[in-house]
Amino acid sequence: MQGAQYVADRPKDLRRARPWHRHRHHIQTLPARLEVLSRDLAVPPGGRVLDYGCADVPYRGFFGPDAEFVAADLPGNPHATLTLNADATVPVPDASFDAVMSTQVLEHVADPAAYLRECFRVLRPGGRLLLSTHGIFIYHPDPIDWWRWTCAGLHHVVEEPGFEVVRFEGIIGLLATGIQLVQDAVYWHLPRPVRPVLALCLQTLAALADRIEGERSRTMNAQVYGLVAAKPGP
Ligand SMILES: C[S@@+](CC[C@H](N)C(=O)[O-])C[C@H]1O[C@@H](n2cnc3c(N)ncnc32)[C@H](O)[C@@H]1O
Repeated sequence: MQGAQYVADRPKDLRRARPWHRHRHHIQTLPARLEVLSRDLAVPPGGRVLDYGCADVPYRGFFGPDAEFVAADLPGNPHATLTLNADATVPVPDASFDAVMSTQVLEHVADPAAYLRECFRVLRPGGRLLLSTHGIFIYHPDPIDWWRWTCAGLHHVVEEPGFEVVRFEGIIGLLATGIQLVQDAVYWHLPRPVRPVLALCLQTLAALADRIEGERSRTMNAQVYGLVAAKPGP
């Protein structure tokens, strides 16, 4: 098995990865940080949210039942409530949404600049984008894994269509990421019974490492970057 495939085998309840799951620290940390960031979207009561590249729609629960949540994906995803056009643009008029969620999608998009222009187009003035994508992470095609970002590169590509970044954070620091990469490099080469033992040890270590690593260092080098960006307007 190549790559992380973490969407395919992550547990339904994202906070409950088994302690020996090979991406336990990632699975436990990422949704919790995204939930915190999602509060900065400031979706008004009855607001419209687009999940642009939704897969199995893991974050619907961040928004109240009154929010109109549109889960969009490429053709063939049974969880999607809206199928994207053949060029992956969204079949809606300009300024249709109060917020866009884009979680672990940008690295899978062949033309990130075009995707971000589309995020900008579908947001109303003053609307906000929550975007997370990988800094340093194993190759994981879904359907293709194209890109990795640095903190500066991600700022640049998000600001290009006109967004203002209002919050930016590193999720999982360099130390924990290094431990994860060591585990990823050896995991599939080990005898099957040894794999969960290795994962249990290294995932525990990664969680400890992340507790001691400072926030400033994480903002520069991280496994995942999360940001909230605003479309200028009222
Ligand atoms: C790794 S999954 C992430 C899914 C989900 N957002 C999450 O956080 O778990 C990547 C998703 O991006 C979608 N995707 C790939 N290319 C895309 C594109 N050009 N535009 C929109 N979505 C795309 C895939 O179909 C898939 O659902």
